[in-house]
Amino acid sequence: MIMFQPHVYATVFILSILQAFALDSYIAAVYEHSVILPNVTGRPVSSEEALTLMNKNMGVLEGAIKAAAQQGAHIIVTPEDGIYGWVFKRDTIFPYLEDIPDPQVNWIPCTDPERFAPAAVQERLSCMARNNSIYVVANIGDKKPCNSSDPKCPSNGHYQYNTNVVFDSKGKLVARYHKYNLFMSETQFDSPKEPEIVTFNTSFGKFGIFTCFDILFHDPAVTLVSKLHVDTVLFPTAWMNVLPHLTAIEFHSAWAMGMGVNLLAADTHNTSLAMTGSGIYAPDGPRAFHYNMETEDGHLLVAELSSLPRLSPTYPSAVNWSAYATSVKQFSPDDHNFSGVIFFDKFTFTELTKPEGNRTVCQKDLCCHFSYRMTEKQEDDVYVLGAFDGLHVVEGEYYLQICTLLKCKSTDLKTCGEPVATAHTRFEEFSLSGTFGTSYVFPEVLLSGVQLAPGEFQVLSDGRLISQSGTSKPVLTVTLFGRWYEKDPP
Ligand SMILES: *[C@@H]1O[C@H](CO)[C@@H](O)[C@H](O)[C@H]1NC(C)=O
Ligand SMILES: *[C@@H]1O[C@H](CO)[C@@H](O)[C@H](O)[C@H]1NC(C)=O
Ligand SMILES: *[C@@H]1O[C@H](CO)[C@@H](O)[C@H](O)[C@H]1NC(C)=O
Ligand SMILES: *[C@@H]1O[C@H](CO)[C@@H](O)[C@H](O)[C@H]1NC(C)=O
Ligand SMILES: *[C@@H]1O[C@H](CO)[C@@H](O)[C@H](O)[C@H]1NC(C)=O
Ligand SMILES: *[C@@H]1O[C@H](CO)[C@@H](O)[C@H](O)[C@H]1NC(C)=O
Ligand SMILES: *[C@@H]1O[C@H](CO)[C@@H](O)[C@H](O)[C@H]1NC(C)=O
Ligand SMILES: *[C@@H]1O[C@H](CO)[C@@H](O)[C@H](O)[C@H]1NC(C)=O
Repeated sequence: MIMFQPHVYATVFILSILQAFALDSYIAAVYEHSVILPNVTGRPVSSEEALTLMNKNMGVLEGAIKAAAQQGAHIIVTPEDGIYGWVFKRDTIFPYLEDIPDPQVNWIPCTDPERFAPAAVQERLSCMARNNSIYVVANIGDKKPCNSSDPKCPSNGHYQYNTNVVFDSKGKLVARYHKYNLFMSETQFDSPKEPEIVTFNTSFGKFGIFTCFDILFHDPAVTLVSKLHVDTVLFPTAWMNVLPHLTAIEFHSAWAMGMGVNLLAADTHNTSLAMTGSGIYAPDGPRAFHYNMETEDGHLLVAELSSLPRLSPTYPSAVNWSAYATSVKQFSPDDHNFSGVIFFDKFTFTELTKPEGNRTVCQKDLCCHFSYRMTEKQEDDVYVLGAFDGLHVVEGEYYLQICTLLKCKSTDLKTCGEPVATAHTRFEEFSLSGTFGTSYVFPEVLLSGVQLAPGEFQVLSDGRLISQSGTSKPVLTVTLFGRWYEKDPP
C-alpha cells in the first residue's frame, strides 16, 4: 500500500483543502472483528471489569482504524456487539452501558471527556477518530434513566438500547441510532418507541444508519433510502448465516442492489455461530467482500465508492420487477411440482431435469420463470426452481415473495432447500423473473464456496436477473428475494 506516514502533514493539508469541496468518490473501510467475549458468570461484573474487557476489544479495533486511515479511508464501520460481545441479561449488560447524549449537544468526547462523564468508551472512540482523521462507526450500549411516572419504565429505572454511534474525523459525536428491530434473543435491550430516522451529511455524501435485523424491515431501513435519499448506509451487524438465501454477503449485497444505495456492512466474526461476511457494496455490485469459516481472525476491507451513487454513470436504471414475467406465458405445465422447505417456509419446487430449458413454477400469486443452459450438468448435482408467496413466521414475521433456483443438498429431492455450500455445475447462461406484487426485490447470486459473483450478472429494467457470459464458479443459488412490507403483520 501507499506509504502515507512520512507525508502525514502534506496529507492533512490536502485533506483540509478537499473537505471544503464535495468529493466524487471516497474510500470506505469495514472491519470484521472476532470479538473477545466476557466470561459468562450470570452475575453483573463491576464497571471497571466491564471497561477492561471493552478496552481489549477497542485495542483491536484501534489497530484496524489506524490501518484503514493509513490506506486513505474516510470512514470505517465496526460490527454490532463488537465491543462487549453477547449472552447478556438486562442486569449483566448494565455495567457496559454509558449514557450517550443526543448529537445535537455538539460534543467532542476526546477534548471534553468530563462533560457527560462517565463516558470512557465514547472518549476512546472519539480519540481514535480524531487522532486518525477518520469517521468511526461503532456499536455500544446506551442507558437512559426513566421515571416511575412512566408505566413502561423498566424496574431498574433505565431504558437500555443497542446503539450505533458515529464520530466524525474531528472526534465529534455526529450520529446516535437506537436499534428498532431487536432480534429475539436481545432481551437485555429495549426498542425505542418509534423507529429513529438518523442521517448526517459529509463532504462525501449523505449517510443513514441502522443495525443488523433492521435490514429485513421497512422502518427505518427503506425510509432512509426512499424518503431521505441517503447515498450510503452504515450497517453494523452480528449476522448468523443461513443458506441458501440469508447469508450475510449474499443478502446484504442484494439489498444494496435492490435499494440502489451504497452499504457498508461490518459483521462480527465467530465461526461456531456462523457469523462471518462483511462487505463494501455499491448499487451495481460488491466492491469488496469477506467470508471466512476457516479461522477466527478479524479482517479489514478497504474500497472506493461513489459519494453520490445516483449521479454515477454506472447507476442501474429503475426496474419494474414484474414487467417481463407478466408479459410471457408459462413455459411448462407444472405437473411435476412438489413441496419442500427452505428456512421453515413451504416452497413449491420443480426439478430441472435437462441441461437446458425453460421452466415455470407457481405458488399463490407468484409465478417464477427460469431459462437456462448449464455448461455441463454434473450427475450428483440436482437443481430445482422454487416459488414462495407467504408470511415467514419463525424468528420474526415478515411477508416474502421468492423466486429461486438452487442446488439441492443431495440427489434426494427431499433435501432441496437444506443448506449446502458447494456445487459442481456452472451455468453458461440464465434468466430468472417473477410476477412480483412488491417493488422491493433483492437479486442474489451465490456461487460454490459461498462466494459472490461481482460483474457476472445484471438486472434488466423489465425485472429479469440474467447472466450472459456464464458463471466463474458452480452455482449454489440464483434468487429474486422479494419483501412485501405492506403485508407484514402490524
Ligand atoms: C475469564 O476467566 C478466565 C479464568 O478465570 C480469565 O483468565 C480470563 O481473563 C477471563 N476473561 C475475561 C474476559 O474476563
Ligand atoms: C490520541 O493522541 C493523543 C495525543 O497524541 C494520545 O495521548 C492519545 O493516547 C491518543 N488516543 C488514541 C485513542 O489514539
Ligand atoms: C422525573 O419526573 C420529575 C417530575 O416530573 C422530573 O423533574 C424529572 O426530571 C424526571 N426524571 C427523568 C429521568 O425523566
Ligand atoms: C444535509 O444537507 C441537505 C442539503 O444540503 C439538507 O437539506 C439536510 O437537512 C442536511 N441533513 C442533515 C442531517 O444535516
Ligand atoms: C463464539 O461464540 C460462542 C458462543 O458465545 C463462544 O462459546 C465461543 O467461545 C466463541 N468463539 C470464539 C472464537 O470467540
Ligand atoms: C410493470 O409492468 C407491468 C407489465 O407491463 C405493468 O402492468 C405494471 O403497471 C408496471 N408497474 C409499474 C410500477 O410500472
Ligand atoms: C402444483 O401446481 C398446481 C397447479 O399450479 C397446484 O394446484 C398445486 O398445488 C401444486 N403442487 C404443489 C405441491 O405445490
Ligand atoms: C426457451 O425459450 C426460448 C424463447 O423463449 C427459445 O428460444 C429456446 O429455444 C427455448 N429453449 C428450450 C430448451 O426449450
